[in-house]
Amino acid sequence: MSATILAFSGSSRSASLNGKLLQYAVAGAREAGASVTVVRLADYELPIYDGDLEERDGLPAGARAFQDAVAHHDALLIASPEHNGGYTALLKNALDWLSRPMPGGRSGLDLVTGKAAAVISASPGILGGVRSQTALRIVLEKVGMIVIPQSLALGQAHLQFDEAQGGLKPSVAGAAQSVGAALANVATRLAV
Ligand SMILES: Cc1cc2nc3c(=O)[nH]c(=O)nc-3n(C[C@H](O)[C@H](O)[C@H](O)COP(=O)(O)O)c2cc1C
Repeated sequence: MSATILAFSGSSRSASLNGKLLQYAVAGAREAGASVTVVRLADYELPIYDGDLEERDGLPAGARAFQDAVAHHDALLIASPEHNGGYTALLKNALDWLSRPMPGGRSGLDLVTGKAAAVISASPGILGGVRSQTALRIVLEKVGMIVIPQSLALGQAHLQFDEAQGGLKPSVAGAAQSVGAALANVATRLAV
């Protein structure tokens, strides 16, 4: 049975470098046989997490929809922009809502515990956003995910996607694709 993967980036920018890199990893996962759904976190209605709001109104519709999307996939493929050495508030907020109890009381953590995740990143900086990956891996493991060792941090990404300069080098594209393929393989094995 082929694995299902939910893919998203921590950026809301239409020209997101992480969104572009994610497409290569998605292609690799699909080539390896996975069924991949790509979503934009910014499309979910997710107010900044607020315990009073949650107590008063329950989970916002966007949080329920994101939980539902995660529930229906075996693994997460995440492209993580770096903001001041960490990952983005958009991404953290989505993960925080995801972890909250669902209507009926079951923990949101049940939706991710034991599932696989892969993290990649792209940045105009030389380190390619690798610090955001470190921070994100800690959180993903805390919520019970199995984060695969394969990853890619693409530095000077604003130059690498420039079509006038030949676009992404095949070797770099291949590295991103291989992360997606590795996730597909791990998710398939875990699903057995
Ligand atoms: C508030 C803010 C903080 C940033 N901090 C970092 C940083 O610590 N390291 C880094 O490599 N890039 C940093 N950047 C640059 C981002 O990597 C860059 O804007 C990147 O294009 C964002 O990802 P995206 O293209 O997927 O939206 C920062 C950008 C912003 C807006």
